[in-house]
Formats: sequence, structure tokens, C-alpha cells
Amino acid sequence: MSSLKTFSVMLTLIAGCCAANVAQAESPAAIQPRGYVVYKTDKAPTIDGKLSDEEWGKIPWSDAFVDIEGADHDAPRHKTRMKMMWDDEALYIAAQLDEPNVWATLKEHDAVIFYDPDFEVFIDPDGDNHMYAELELNALNTTWDLLLNMPYKDGGKPINAWEILGLKTAVAVDGTLNDPTDVDKGWTVEIAWPWKGLQELSTAKFPPVDGDRLRIDFSRVEWDVVVKDGKTQKVPKRPEHNWVWSPQGVINMHRPETWGEALFSTQPIGSVTYKQDPARTYKTLLHSVYYAQKAYHDKNGTFATELAQLDLAGEGYKQVTLQATPLSFRASIQTPEAAGGETWMIDQNSLLQELKEKSAEE
Ligand SMILES: *[C@@H]1O[C@H](CO)[C@@H](O)[C@H](O)[C@H]1NC(C)=O
Ligand SMILES: *[C@@H]1O[C@H](CO)[C@@H](O)[C@H](O)[C@H]1NC(C)=O
Repeated sequence: MSSLKTFSVMLTLIAGCCAANVAQAESPAAIQPRGYVVYKTDKAPTIDGKLSDEEWGKIPWSDAFVDIEGADHDAPRHKTRMKMMWDDEALYIAAQLDEPNVWATLKEHDAVIFYDPDFEVFIDPDGDNHMYAELELNALNTTWDLLLNMPYKDGGKPINAWEILGLKTAVAVDGTLNDPTDVDKGWTVEIAWPWKGLQELSTAKFPPVDGDRLRIDFSRVEWDVVVKDGKTQKVPKRPEHNWVWSPQGVINMHRPETWGEALFSTQPIGSVTYKQDPARTYKTLLHSVYYAQKAYHDKNGTFATELAQLDLAGEGYKQVTLQATPLSFRASIQTPEAAGGETWMIDQNSLLQELKEKSAEE
């Protein structure tokens, strides 16, 4: 028990820590993913890009987006917020992007949409870091949907030909599109993402039930522009801004372990206080082992076979079991009863899974 207490104190220290230490800033332990309670609706919204549906009016906005590297970086110059609700058919997403000059050029489905200013959704329906979906759309309502079998850092490949089953999107511009001579208010996005489009990526069952969770994040890409001959143009060679709901700590959205978390509820709207996944602390420890193994492998060409060989400090790691060969590893941890009493494991490709006891017959 006392070791558990030390352990949670240690995690609080890590979580609250400074950005000055680069190694810690890049460690997933330094990130506290944001949470949002997704309430059930009796009536689906009309997907027209306008958020005028009575149902949306009852649903609370998320906190404003922050820089992808964290709230301690430059605040975004325009506000972005999202909301979500659900029913037995779909997850509904709304977003509001303040923007004085709404512009978009790309009209072809599955083009690289973030070359325009865009809004992006990332969903890992069973939270295992593998088989996750990315959807990008611009102010012309042009979409790019892709499937990642695993993150790029683990050798993942994007599958562009994949299409989200039954997806509906719409955009409404509050102002004038591609007219830099006036000042716009911004644009709004409305999405219906049917459960059947997530079910095919997941071992979790959809639609969710009260208390189920989903790893999800939202990102907005914004470019610095100049107006030349009445046209909006990107400032050459300037990287994009990435404003996100739940910050990643690094300029990389392809780290599902630091995405935010949706908590589904059937309770009355506004009545539930978000609490993070009780096993999160333990999953974060496993991710820290994974990143330490990656660093070790980069240096030595093999994985460490003992935890003591890794650059990990803290009591919590005493509870981690490591099994490794030079080419692969599996780190596992048992959560206490209060956090589910489950055994979780992570492997060299960041696959995070619950280890279930095999029954005697197997
Ligand atoms: C947006 O695009 C979708 C799919 O191509 C289409 O069904 C919808 O009508 C469009 N509408 C608006 C308002 O953006
Ligand atoms: C492997 O790399 C780590 C640093 O990541 C270093 O501390 C360790 O000494 C190296 N081990 C070997 C056997 O080279």
C-alpha cells in the first residue's frame, strides 16, 4: 500500500513538472490528456454545418484549443472549440473555428487537406494505439479520411483508400469564403461519425454504454498568410501552426497515448464530472517504458532485457514486469483493484492491450 502511495505522489510530481527539462517534456508522463463528457441525445442533429440545432444548444463547449506542444507555448491567435454528443447511430462532433479570413483551395477528396487551413479528428476507438482513424476537412467541406494500422513512429502506414462508413460532414462559413477584403467571423464544422465506421477498427462494442471511454483528439492547422493581388497566399517556408484540443507535448499528432479522452454518459446533460480512466496512470508508466526502450534501441540497436538498463526513475517501475529479447519486448503491469485489477501490457510497436487470463481449457 505504501509503495502505491509513493507511486501516485511521484506521478503527480512528473505531471506537474516544468517544460524546461526536454526529456520530461517529451515523455508522455508529462502530459495530462484532457477529458470531455459526451452526453446522449434523443434527437440527431441535422448535418448542415450550422450549429443551430436545439440539441447542440444544450451541449457544453470544450475548453479552447491550445498549442500542440502545450498550454505553456504561444496561445493560438484564434479561438477553436468543439462539442460532442451521441446516440445509438453515431458520434456527433461540432467545431467552431474563429477566423477573420476564411480560405480553402482543395476540392479533391483524399487530397492532403492540411495544406489548407483545416480541422482534424483523430479516433482510436479501443485505445490500443493501433488501427486508428484520421479525418481532415477544410472550409470547402473537402475531406481526407485515412486509417493508420499503427503510428508512423512504429512503422505504421496510412491507408488512404479506406473510407469511413456512413460518414456525414458539413461546413458553414460565417463570412465569405476566399474573400480577403472583408473580415469573417469564422467557420463551423458538423460531423456524424456512425458507430459502424468505428466498429470495424475496434474490439470494443459500439454504440457505447454509460461510462465507456474513447481516445480522441482534434487539431486545427493554420497557416501564416499574406494577401497579394486580392488573393490569400501562404507565407513561403513558414511552418504551420497546430492548435489542438488535448496537447501532445511534441509537434506530432500520431501519439494516440496523449490524445484526450471522451467519457460517454446517459445521465442528464451537465450532471457528470469527468474523471480520467482509473488505469491511465499505469498505462502511462507502460508508455514511459516503451519510450525508454525506443531510446535504448536507437543507441544500442537492441532492446534492454532488464528494466535497470533503462533511464527510468521512480518507484512505480518496480511494479512493471519486462520480458525482452534483443528484437522485441513486452512490459506489463497489474493495476490495483481500485483501478480495475487488470493486467496491461505494451509491446515494441506501442500496442497497448489488456492481458486476459487464459481459461483452464485453452
Ligand atoms: C459536405 O460534403 C458532404 C459529402 O461530400 C455532402 O454530403 C454535404 O452536403 C456537403 N455539405 C455542406 C453544407 O458542406
Ligand atoms: C545502451 O544505451 C543506453 C542509453 O540509452 C546506455 O545507458 C547503455 O549503457 C547502453 N548499453 C549498452 C550495452 O551499450
